[in-house]
Amino acid sequence: MQEDRYSLPQRVLHWGIAGLVALALVAGMLFFAFGFSGLQDTFGGAVTNALYKYHKTAGVLVLGLMILRVVLRLRLGAPAPVTSLTDLERRLSAGVQLLLYAMLLVLPALGWLATAAGGFPVEFFNWTLPGLIGKDKALSELLFTLHGLAALTVMLLLGLHIAGALRHWLIKRDGVMRRMSLLG
Ligand code: HEM
Repeated sequence: MQEDRYSLPQRVLHWGIAGLVALALVAGMLFFAFGFSGLQDTFGGAVTNALYKYHKTAGVLVLGLMILRVVLRLRLGAPAPVTSLTDLERRLSAGVQLLLYAMLLVLPALGWLATAAGGFPVEFFNWTLPGLIGKDKALSELLFTLHGLAALTVMLLLGLHIAGALRHWLIKRDGVMRRMSLLG
């Protein structure tokens, strides 16, 4: 890639996936804070079911779009690293980005398999996707625990990623943000 910024499809995917992850995280934190019956008591059955349905839908979209993103990254690459970065900064940001790629594939895959193993529908808008594994309550509990831990890891990685981006944007003002920006 010769340009000094990511290609338009890569930039659109970055911000689209960021929005979907934020939606899935907000719903997931509500599941964690209230639990299923707590949500039903507080918000009613219809809202609770919609929260679960759109949590799963957003997660499945993240999985599909992340696969596309990996393919694009392998085919189109990334712009050359910014010269103002120190060696440590370059390694740190590359490490966090690699882990985010991996975790944003693992996290929704765990949610999918945990849901299926629990005997719940893998909802995608108004469709039900194939579960891929049979019903197994104990396995489902283990996979949901791993799903929660993976979500926590993603939140920590996002904290580092966003702190780094804000530092470049507001303090260093070195054009790193422009590489992923949708604006001119
Ligand atoms: C980027 C994608 C995703 C994120 C950020 C995410 C995040 C979360 C979080 C934070 C929780 C709460 C964990 C806990 O209570 O310990 C959760 C729960 C849950 N997730 Fe996801 N998730 C994603 C994808 C998926 C997918 C693809 C599915 C299924 C197709 C799914 C199904 C579920 C279900 C059913 C629960 C509730 C578990 C319960 O009520 O005990 N998630 N998710």
